Amino acid sequence: MAMYIVLLGPPGVGKGTQAKILAQKTGLPHVSSGDLFREHLKNQTDLGRLAQSYMSKGELVPDDVTIAMVRDRLSRPDCESGAILDGFPRTPVQAEALEKMLAEFSAQVDVVPYISAPDEVLVERLSGRRTCRAQGHVFHVRYNPPAKEGVCDYDGSELYQREDDREETVRRRIQVYREQTAPLVSYYREQGKLVEINGAQPIEQVTQDLLRALEQVETS
Ligand code: AP5
Repeated sequence: MAMYIVLLGPPGVGKGTQAKILAQKTGLPHVSSGDLFREHLKNQTDLGRLAQSYMSKGELVPDDVTIAMVRDRLSRPDCESGAILDGFPRTPVQAEALEKMLAEFSAQVDVVPYISAPDEVLVERLSGRRTCRAQGHVFHVRYNPPAKEGVCDYDGSELYQREDDREETVRRRIQVYREQTAPLVSYYREQGKLVEINGAQPIEQVTQDLLRALEQVETS
């Protein structure tokens, strides 16, 4: 399947969870700007340190460095026939940059599933989230618990709580989303690419709805 998919939605709605499942089902690479920043942080790069100073406060990392990082990732051969973008674009400037980048590969954003859920659901999901140290696999203490507490089912590494999952930072992230990212909903709706998905459903149900949305793009 050749397709560029942008998963849009607030923090904690399940973009990363669904992107990983869709990547397995479609064979497309999962490109997460948040994971790329966390990888830089783990490797103690200058970009990692810069990103951390914004991420820990729940603010967005500046557009120029974010766009350059994602451009580099999308230029790799595994993204030639598509990608599942998670967390990018997050501002109108990033959306326009993505359009230009893809046009260089004679491609475009094909579909934008917009996953939404009420704020209480987002806060509860983020406060119970546990993330794997080695590869960023995601669990939830109640909704998606690992077989063994504190240990990743996939690679056995330690599960930790992200620094930006503290309640006051989560509230700020949701506010930043409303101010800076929510305008992309109408941007993609006007382009006829938006598909609304109810993210308050169980994980499997959200996946079914997403797969149905992708099938419709393939057959149109
Ligand atoms: P990022 O890492 O992108 O965080 P986010 O968008 O805030 O998204 P999350 O990873 O928090 O949530 P998610 O929707 O992926 O939910 P998940 O699947 O984990 O960004 C972090 C920071 O990096 C930003 O604040 C910013 O500073 C910076 N950044 C990143 N991209 C940037 C950009 N483009 N520009 C500028 N700055 C950028 O699920 C959450 C929990 O819920 C999990 O525990 C999961 O198990 C559980 N769960 C998932 N689905 C369900 C379900 N259906 N039912 C029950 N539980 C569920």
